[in-house]
Amino acid sequence: MNYNPLQNKNAGWSGRFSEPMSALTQRYTSSIGFDWKLWRFDIQGSRAHARMLAKQSIISAQDLAAIERGLSQIANEIEAGSFEFKLELEDIHLNIEKRLTDLVGDAGKRLHTGRSRNDQVALDVRLYTRAAIDDICPLIRAVQTAFVKLASEHADTILPGYTHVQVAMPVTFGHHLLAYVEMLDRDWARFVDARARVNVLPLGAAALAGTTFPIDRQFVAQDLGFDGVAQNSLDAVSDRDFVIETLNAAAMLMTHLSRFAEEMVWWMNPRFAFVSLPDSVCTGSSIMPQKKNPDVAELIRGKVGRVNGHVVTMLTLMKGQPLAYNKDNQEDKEPLFDAVETVADTLRIMVEMVSGIVVNKAAMRNAAKEGFATATDLADYLVRQGLPFREAHEIVARAVRLAESQGKDLSELSLAALQEVAPKVQNDVFECLTLEGSVNARNHEGGTAPAQVRIQVARWQTKLGGTQI
Ligand code: ARG
Repeated sequence: MNYNPLQNKNAGWSGRFSEPMSALTQRYTSSIGFDWKLWRFDIQGSRAHARMLAKQSIISAQDLAAIERGLSQIANEIEAGSFEFKLELEDIHLNIEKRLTDLVGDAGKRLHTGRSRNDQVALDVRLYTRAAIDDICPLIRAVQTAFVKLASEHADTILPGYTHVQVAMPVTFGHHLLAYVEMLDRDWARFVDARARVNVLPLGAAALAGTTFPIDRQFVAQDLGFDGVAQNSLDAVSDRDFVIETLNAAAMLMTHLSRFAEEMVWWMNPRFAFVSLPDSVCTGSSIMPQKKNPDVAELIRGKVGRVNGHVVTMLTLMKGQPLAYNKDNQEDKEPLFDAVETVADTLRIMVEMVSGIVVNKAAMRNAAKEGFATATDLADYLVRQGLPFREAHEIVARAVRLAESQGKDLSELSLAALQEVAPKVQNDVFECLTLEGSVNARNHEGGTAPAQVRIQVARWQTKLGGTQI
């Protein structure tokens, strides 16, 4: 990037200054190194603003035509990589405005009529955030679709369900996967909900108090696809709560994804061996030739840290800021951009990982057979025979101790042995002690039974429609 500390006379505001800014101040205050990413939105916003100025006869039709032409050329230059972003022009807004003026002369200088960089940047950040949500939501749907597809293949596959990472009860793998589909659905809804508050036009607030020109804000809102117009200019230029909300949704989403990633890391370990992940999302070791590491899963887990951190950054940035715009807000961009890019890539790689999971049904089944996963089923059986649940619980604990001492699972104990601890037990007890008996018995809305998994898979398939993965 070009760097010339004496050229801040180009910055568009230096008229009242007699000394050039120090090189360090220039570097410290400049945001072009990151806010260049707003260029599309800055041009989109400027076009809408210029059209409104012309419609209101604040600028002429010729000026509008020149501005449109200049902005198109700038878009082409940035797209082609030939646009020169200049540090001494501070930020994306001044970089584009200066180039526009170089290209189309006075018309370019008129573009900023009735506008300030304060409402301009608030607009750009809103447009960026809206576009980010519109990218992220379909990606969430794609991950859900990948989960549902896998769930549809594993409605009957049984693995241990854990609490405290100890074997608890048998569950179906389809049911396990659909738990994530539920979490992701709430995440999707959080983004959609945040979008409604993002999608409000701040432009027209100008620096902080509005403008003396006869602007038409509804026209601009419509042009840019906003649902409404910010009703208070001080609020419009200063608050970034819409960024915080979006980052909250992002952090919650990443937190959910990290839970699954954590399971993948464990399940790849040969002690579990429940799954193997496709080579495309694993890496080797430079020293240990035998290694296949679940790096992608680990990074999904790890990247939550930065997204959670960005939420805290933004809350701290906003905290205690007096009205109205303060330069502090320039610091909103890096956390926002990084969170959005991290989340979008994480969702993309989740699709690849989930679509490529190879399931080791035998390992899942063997694990479910260990750890007395059907103990609660035995207790429920005794309750159905008339015992109060707490007593049944104690009896089953004794049965578990007995089985443990014989190195057997509950279903492998003889009827006689079971009757020693629970005299009323009959032969039909073995039906509920099997893994299939256990999961099939939980056949109600929200339960783990294969029949329920099929119902849920069908519901999700309808809801997700033809989402591409
Ligand atoms: N680069 C600034 C930002 O990101 C733009 C607005 C600056 N306004 C100002 N009056 N200095 O927030």
